[in-house]
Amino acid sequence: MRRNHSTTPRTPRVLGSLLLLAAAGGFALGAAPEARAAAPTPLGRVVPAPASVTPGGTPYRVTRATGIRVDDSAEVRRIGGYLAGVLRPSTGYPLPVTDRGTGGIRLHLADGDFGAEGYRLRSGAGGVTLTARTPAGLFHGVQTLRQLLPAAVERKTVQRGPWSIAGGTVQDRPRYAYRGAMLDVSRHFFTVAQVKRYIDQLALYKVNELHLHLSDDQGWRIAIDSWPRLASYGGSTQVGGGPGGHYTKADYREIVRYASSRYLEVVPEIDMPGHTNAALAAYAKLNCDGTAPPLYTGTQVGFSSLCVSKAVTYDFVTDVVRELAALTPGRYLHIGGDEAHSTAHGDYVAFMDRVQPVVARYGKTVIGWHQLTGAHPARGALAQYWGQDGTGAAEKAQVVAAARNGTGLILSPADRLYLDMKYTRGTGPGTDWAGLVEVERAYDWNPGAYLAGLPASAVRGVEAPLWTETLKKSADIEYMAFPRLAGAAELGWSPAATHDWNAYKVRLAAQGPRWDALGVHYYRSPQVPWPAR
Ligand code: ACM
Repeated sequence: MRRNHSTTPRTPRVLGSLLLLAAAGGFALGAAPEARAAAPTPLGRVVPAPASVTPGGTPYRVTRATGIRVDDSAEVRRIGGYLAGVLRPSTGYPLPVTDRGTGGIRLHLADGDFGAEGYRLRSGAGGVTLTARTPAGLFHGVQTLRQLLPAAVERKTVQRGPWSIAGGTVQDRPRYAYRGAMLDVSRHFFTVAQVKRYIDQLALYKVNELHLHLSDDQGWRIAIDSWPRLASYGGSTQVGGGPGGHYTKADYREIVRYASSRYLEVVPEIDMPGHTNAALAAYAKLNCDGTAPPLYTGTQVGFSSLCVSKAVTYDFVTDVVRELAALTPGRYLHIGGDEAHSTAHGDYVAFMDRVQPVVARYGKTVIGWHQLTGAHPARGALAQYWGQDGTGAAEKAQVVAAARNGTGLILSPADRLYLDMKYTRGTGPGTDWAGLVEVERAYDWNPGAYLAGLPASAVRGVEAPLWTETLKKSADIEYMAFPRLAGAAELGWSPAATHDWNAYKVRLAAQGPRWDALGVHYYRSPQVPWPAR
């Protein structure tokens, strides 16, 4: 698919001089700093790197006369409305969304070799046309279009243009179907509004799976009608002893709806049989000795277990899975399975053997942390690998053997993609049990060749988890996620042939002003050549 990948500006010289003059004007008039860069962003300078970029021709300039032309379809019209919602506040232009007229920015569904999420972007003097086979493809194309406009386009007040999009063609589709981010809402609870904010940030980088870690020792975060104390009591605190919280079913549906409007699938996780203190505290009968432990607000792991030998445990699991599956239009239900240090190995295997068919009964595909490969992964199940360079050979071999046997893998190496690892010794929030993970380390590895002996087809994608023992507010989430999340997204989307740290860091640097404009709090790593603020 890759024809020509380039991040080199090909702006014609005369036009370039004119744009330089315009840039100087913007500077003199005191525009926001990012508005000074008036030369259009080179066509390939986006994250994730597109599969194929063919620059050339005249840029398209968005003006007061530009319309967003959509197919006569509710979903394409909605995507057009989303794009207008990004562009109108900063440009001040009306940007009507219409199925009439010619030119402008056109969003169009058509058959073609685009895949389930790919798109083509063509830009020239007469307009920009995005074409895809699916609405998801158009939406991802819109994210590319956004990044081709100056960063000031992300501001919520009228900014000085010009609003030019470089000429040429981008033909793009993802390397992996699964490109995820996980948010731990158990260790600290995050509101629906905070989750939506993160969803919007993920969508900008074409992430398409939102894994919510909904239960752990410190908090149960989803209302289950048949076991109401899970949320009302089990969700009543968090790390450090704050008030915690939980999602009502309406809240959860709203998260699912919002994620879906940004083409992300929600993957809910109920972590079992370990990481269950909140449930055990809420219901004494779930404990082998019939005694409920107190709520837990510390950060230790591995001390809790469901009672594998009790029948009520499976009534509980069945009720939870049934209610959660009914709330979840997505394909997956994540059953955790990590760090079950207080469950005897035989019990762990028996538990996983018994729980996986429950997930299937309610129409969902199992995902488990890679310890699931120490039991009997169900046919079609996915294992999420969170080992690191130092993980023992036997554990790696077990994962590879499962993959050879048909278990798909999602790669989340802790010493690469765990977004809660500190960048450096001096990073304020975060932890360091998997080491310090600077931006280059997070980006510079190949998911396709990560575990020796792994069939390439076993790798279904990558996911960047964010554990929140030390993270309390959206600014904390953002500081740990950005810029590393962008690299994880690129590993999931971009062809291996585009992988190059030195080229990536230049494209990444261009995201800085965009994050500034969006109000995203991020780590200005010295490894990245950020433009001056
Ligand atoms: C994990 O980090 N315990 C999956």
